[in-house]
Amino acid sequence: MLGAGFIGDFYSFSLHGQRSRDRVQVIYSRDNERGKRFAQKHGIPRWTTSMRDAINDPDVDVVVVALPNNLHLEAVLMAAEAKKAVFCTKPLGRNAVEAKQMLDAVEKASVVHGYMEDLVYPPKTTKALQSVRNGAIGQVTWARSRETHPGPHSNWFWTKDISGGGVLLDMGCHCIEISRNYIGKDIKPVEVMCWAETLVKPIDAEDNALGFVKYENGAIGQFEVSWSFRGGMDLRDEVMGTEGTIWINNFLRTGFEMFTAGGKGGYVAEKAETEKGWIFPVGDEVAELGYTNMFTDFFQALEQNGHCSEDFYDGYIVNEIMDACYRSAKSKKWEPVTLQVWRGKAKSDPISALKEYDKDFLFVKEETLPDGSVKLILKDRKTGEIIQRMIH
Ligand SMILES: NC(=O)c1ccc[n+]([C@@H]2O[C@H](COP(=O)([O-])OP(=O)(O)OC[C@H]3O[C@@H](n4cnc5c(N)ncnc54)[C@H](O)[C@@H]3O)[C@@H](O)[C@H]2O)c1
Repeated sequence: MLGAGFIGDFYSFSLHGQRSRDRVQVIYSRDNERGKRFAQKHGIPRWTTSMRDAINDPDVDVVVVALPNNLHLEAVLMAAEAKKAVFCTKPLGRNAVEAKQMLDAVEKASVVHGYMEDLVYPPKTTKALQSVRNGAIGQVTWARSRETHPGPHSNWFWTKDISGGGVLLDMGCHCIEISRNYIGKDIKPVEVMCWAETLVKPIDAEDNALGFVKYENGAIGQFEVSWSFRGGMDLRDEVMGTEGTIWINNFLRTGFEMFTAGGKGGYVAEKAETEKGWIFPVGDEVAELGYTNMFTDFFQALEQNGHCSEDFYDGYIVNEIMDACYRSAKSKKWEPVTLQVWRGKAKSDPISALKEYDKDFLFVKEETLPDGSVKLILKDRKTGEIIQRMIH
């Protein structure tokens, strides 16, 4: 485990939870005391202040990169050199150039690589994705994803040179990959439109951003991210298809609501903001945020086919989309997504859900009116005229 901070903790809790056989063997932290405390807390046998020693430890099969964004490249290159499997947290790179270097390195070294996009693994999301793949909502036309909270917990996130960007990079990466999963990872992202601004905080990077990612088949992925949202962490997805709809709420109002006058319950949930009054605890946070399923997927990949469902190629695509978003936020125009590597469909057909009505008409819609009568809206195939007809 490289990094003894916030996400290193979450990853270690997930790995060691539920009597898992996967164990962290060594923790790398710059600070010896901090490494020791982390090791003791998680029952990890060794700690070190040398990243290289941690990676080359003979008991280590997998390197988990849980370090600030500016260190992902260095850590991944070192793991690839050591021929160790490597799982890297999000965003993969601070930009697509870094992400591509990481992708090239792990592929050249032929090591298993996982991109730790936990938010495509929450149990609700994996089930929803399976339903979409089974055709439950027809063709996905729009996937909207929101991640907002009152801002990150460490200074480096707020320092653009280290983090590489603001909330667009930090949380847009989650939303973009969630939408990409619903729309289809084999469908090419072609262009983006993004607004990103520093509205509230005294920082160089953006603290709020909204954007659209247009896919080759016409589907739209929409993201909404903020570091100045008040009231906890809001993680919501909405998916619209030609035959159905999905709404998912992963954090606030998940069906567990509690009122506590004294606030003696302890930790509520990530970035909860308050421990008193009406609160929205999360039952099993590491599972509900997807970490448990994510590690299961990655370790199965390691033992079976060598391919994680989210890997560095996905991380690279997300970085390219975000680079295009930054260009769009600057130009205030739609900007193309430029991909150096594309492994999905060479060409995707436009979304099409034409329904025949009879030999003369195409079906547009049917509606039951307040008096119980039923109206049909049809399109004349020959003239193109839209007509309406009462059927009873
Ligand atoms: N849901 C998620 O997937 C998720 C959530 C939070 C963070 N992250 C990602 O995890 C990574 C780490 O974030 P975090 O929240 O754990 O941050 P953090 O600040 O809590 O922890 C970072 C750790 O790295 C150490 N560190 C800082 N600078 C270092 C340096 N130069 N050399 C060595 N160690 C250094 C810090 O001391 C700390 O222990 C980031 O890339 C972030 O984007 C992912």
